[in-house]
Amino acid sequence: MTPIRLLIHGASGRMGQSLLRLAAADSGLHVVAAVSRGGADDASGSLPASRMAEAPAFDVAIDFSLPAGLAGLIDACARHGAGLVSGTTGLGSPEHAALDAAAARIPLLWAPNFSLGVAVLQGLVRQAAAALPGWDADIIELHHSGKRDAPSGTALRLGEALAAGRGQPPRYHSLRAGDAVGEHSVQLSGHGERLELVHRASDREVFARGALFVAGWLAGKAPGRYRIEDALAGPKTLS
Ligand SMILES: NC(=O)c1ccc[n+]([C@@H]2O[C@H](COP(=O)([O-])OP(=O)(O)OC[C@H]3O[C@@H](n4cnc5c(N)ncnc54)[C@H](OP(=O)(O)O)[C@@H]3O)[C@@H](O)[C@H]2O)c1
Repeated sequence: MTPIRLLIHGASGRMGQSLLRLAAADSGLHVVAAVSRGGADDASGSLPASRMAEAPAFDVAIDFSLPAGLAGLIDACARHGAGLVSGTTGLGSPEHAALDAAAARIPLLWAPNFSLGVAVLQGLVRQAAAALPGWDADIIELHHSGKRDAPSGTALRLGEALAAGRGQPPRYHSLRAGDAVGEHSVQLSGHGERLELVHRASDREVFARGALFVAGWLAGKAPGRYRIEDALAGPKTLS
């Protein structure tokens, strides 16, 4: 089987390093370019974002970076007819509009969280909120002190699930401390009782594994904007 050619965008970051490590151990994947803002002279295939036009042909780009880099990456994917998997959070309406427009030309999947547990949590939250519409709803999230956006993209997605179930958005509480990988607690509080649904990620490889799985799933798909639920329809393959 020909390996899937990957471009890793945000390669020097925490997620990028995790992706490079896991991809190197997978014979079905071949990283042809490792792009970051500054680039790095030591890694093979390393490229500064300003020279993205020099990237060799690739099948799928995996992006964990900052919103500012997204437009250039979308152009590169369109030029190469490649798919895009993005986990970058903190996107505003212009970036989401750019993703919607790009979906006419390339297959793409953006998700604020690539863990299987959070995908399941999403459904549980919707169900609980629908059953307890009058209860107070709060989302408490904790991430490492280097995370820039708040509330986290995952908290906002869980908030959408709560709002869909109960008709009202929740309150958000964001903590930034130490090296926490990511915790999300959804609390529904009634009189004399409280329901808590909690997800804790202890290793960022969870997200990297999910993104690599999705990249394999997305390669060769028709243009369109896909959802993580589409790709996780066969979760047995994600360990
Ligand atoms: N969806 C998920 O499951 C999930 C999980 C974890 C994290 N995330 C999100 O992923 C993103 C990255 O997280 P991280 O912890 O890896 O961050 P990080 O350690 O700060 O790394 C950021 C990376 O992005 C690069 N970068 C920044 N601006 C860029 C630009 N304009 N063009 C190209 N590359 C650029 C940086 O390059 P330089 O080093 O050269 O500046 C660096 O390689 C964040 O938005 C985070 O919230 C999502």
